Amino acid sequence: MQETTQQIIVGLDERSYPIDIGAGLLARTPLFDNLPKQLLIVTNTVVGPLYEAQVRAQLFAHDVVTHTIDDGEGAKSLDNFGAIIDTLIAHNFNRDCAIIALGGGVVGDLAGFVAATYQRGVNFYQIPTTLLAQVDSSVGGKTAINHPGGKNLVGAFYQPQGVLIDTQCLSTLNDRDYACGLAEVVKYGIIADADFFAWLEAHQHNLNQRDSAALTYAIRRSCEIKAEVVAADEREQSVRALLNLGHTFGHAIEAAHYESWKHGEAVAAGTMIAATLMHQLGELTATELTRIETLLNGLKLPVRAPKMPLERWQTFMQRDKKVKGGTLRFVLPTAIGAACLRPISDWQAIGAAIAAMSHADARSPL
Ligand SMILES: NC(=O)c1ccc[n+]([C@@H]2O[C@H](COP(=O)([O-])OP(=O)(O)OC[C@H]3O[C@@H](n4cnc5c(N)ncnc54)[C@H](O)[C@@H]3O)[C@@H](O)[C@H]2O)c1
Ligand SMILES: [Zn+2]
Repeated sequence: MQETTQQIIVGLDERSYPIDIGAGLLARTPLFDNLPKQLLIVTNTVVGPLYEAQVRAQLFAHDVVTHTIDDGEGAKSLDNFGAIIDTLIAHNFNRDCAIIALGGGVVGDLAGFVAATYQRGVNFYQIPTTLLAQVDSSVGGKTAINHPGGKNLVGAFYQPQGVLIDTQCLSTLNDRDYACGLAEVVKYGIIADADFFAWLEAHQHNLNQRDSAALTYAIRRSCEIKAEVVAADEREQSVRALLNLGHTFGHAIEAAHYESWKHGEAVAAGTMIAATLMHQLGELTATELTRIETLLNGLKLPVRAPKMPLERWQTFMQRDKKVKGGTLRFVLPTAIGAACLRPISDWQAIGAAIAAMSHADARSPL
């Protein structure tokens, strides 16, 4: 496969911005066009030591300050939000500054929320370093921090000025986080693009080997699909909800087993339940169901959920954002390449799909 830098544009009128994707882009000068003088890099204790020096080397003509947060979901906190604002004020950052997020989805969500609110909004750039951040969280402008009362409870829609995706950053990512990103990649194929799904089937070995040309294509196509969906429905009034395939079931698994299941793993098992439900309703063929399972399996993702009583699923799923008027709405695949959002209140049918895709020994794979 040919190695090139790919660019796609997220089309949101005056807030449109480019996403550049390629191997070795961290060594590019300039990293982004028209960066202001004052820059704050937000990173964490894992990513900073790996990539901050490379990024700083491209920013020698700027005044750069780095704010490093702890690793982990807990860092997406009100405390860290306040601490970054303190850093900006302590260094006299003005409205013309820019914030660069260097890290995974945690760093991106937190830094983006700071950018959205500091002096009512400053320039924001993303250098996502996990596969999940590259194909999902860095695209679409959702920023947020957590509250003890729940995840992402405080946030804003705030689009960046640019996103730079260096596929080489993925070489240092652990196998589990890497596979979790692939779960979201498969999701795009199922909801929107049968050809892409077939491409993933044909290139799963290249992806498992983190081949950079295969990664560049898979990331580009994922970002394109997400960008199209976001351009059509920035604030999730309609089609953007389809991006939650597998997530309603997945969130229940995560909530019940947060210590052992990662988000992407739960989404993979949740996707299997959603596909099984459609198969049992006669709207997805057995061949398609098997293809989904085989691909997720091939990408080293779990395809069975842990066993838990239906009431427990119900409790966790009722908390889902997609509950409207008491009825759960599910994102369900109608074919490989198409999905719908459908209210379903038949708990017998939901329970049958869950039971078929649960296993007493099912646990996250690694
Ligand atoms: N804004 C959105 O639209 C959106 C969408 C999906 C998820 N999210 C959010 O994203 C977060 C999850 O993101 P994530 O999966 O990237 O988690 P993460 O940011 O915690 O990164 C996962 C782990 O990988 C490490 N890491 C990052 N880059 C690395 C690299 N190149 N090499 C080695 N290690 C590296 C991190 O330090 C961390 O330990 C959640 O908070 C979730 O809510 C947001
Ligand atoms: Zn997800």
